[in-house]
Amino acid sequence: MLRVAVCVSGGGTNLQAILDAIEGGTVTNAQVVSVISNNPGAYALERARRHGIEGICVSPKQFGSRGEFNRAFLEKLDGCEPDLVVLAGFLVVLPEMMVRKYKNRIINIHPSLIPSFCGTGYYGLKVHEGALARGVKVTGATVHFVDEGTDTGPILLQQPVMVRQDDTPQSLQRRVMEEAEWKILPRAIDLIANGKVHVEGGKAVIRWEETPAPVDGE
Ligand code: GAR
Repeated sequence: MLRVAVCVSGGGTNLQAILDAIEGGTVTNAQVVSVISNNPGAYALERARRHGIEGICVSPKQFGSRGEFNRAFLEKLDGCEPDLVVLAGFLVVLPEMMVRKYKNRIINIHPSLIPSFCGTGYYGLKVHEGALARGVKVTGATVHFVDEGTDTGPILLQQPVMVRQDDTPQSLQRRVMEEAEWKILPRAIDLIANGKVHVEGGKAVIRWEETPAPVDGE
């Protein structure tokens, strides 16, 4: 059973999608062992509690420096003994120490088709504002492994979403969540939990189930 720790900062709809997929059986061989937030007001913590999962908060406000916060956060994470760390709307720059320690064991959901509208400054609604300002006709979401850069790690899954002429950042954000994020994040966890993913030469390689060739006469 893959032990999953989910890091969150806000509403937690992606966390909800993961919990529902595990309960509904579309994600197998995985359990969410804890949900960790930097924000004590994150509704995601409440969602965790409702599912009987420990919700932990480590806020930077509790500490005198960024370094102290980083150490405390990593200590809590280590205490959960996760096999996989999922950043589900986690709006904190990860300490390098954490990225190194959990190399190829941290995934992030980003609400665009990377490499568009990603990197420093592109998070949450800002991503969709950028997409609309540029006038792209297709956007989407990406699940990627986390490396030392911002949104630069190996891409695992992507799902496109069509932009509508009358979209607002809010309407686009909602559709990207519904049509892309809530599908590919649980799918990524399922693939990893079932040993179907490895990283090779800086790229994520997926071993898809082979469809049996049709037998003559069938
Ligand atoms: C999601 O749209 C996620 O893709 C985005 O924050 C939102 C969190 O929503 N993450 C980023 O922008 C990371 N760069 P949620 O709390 O309802 O899952």
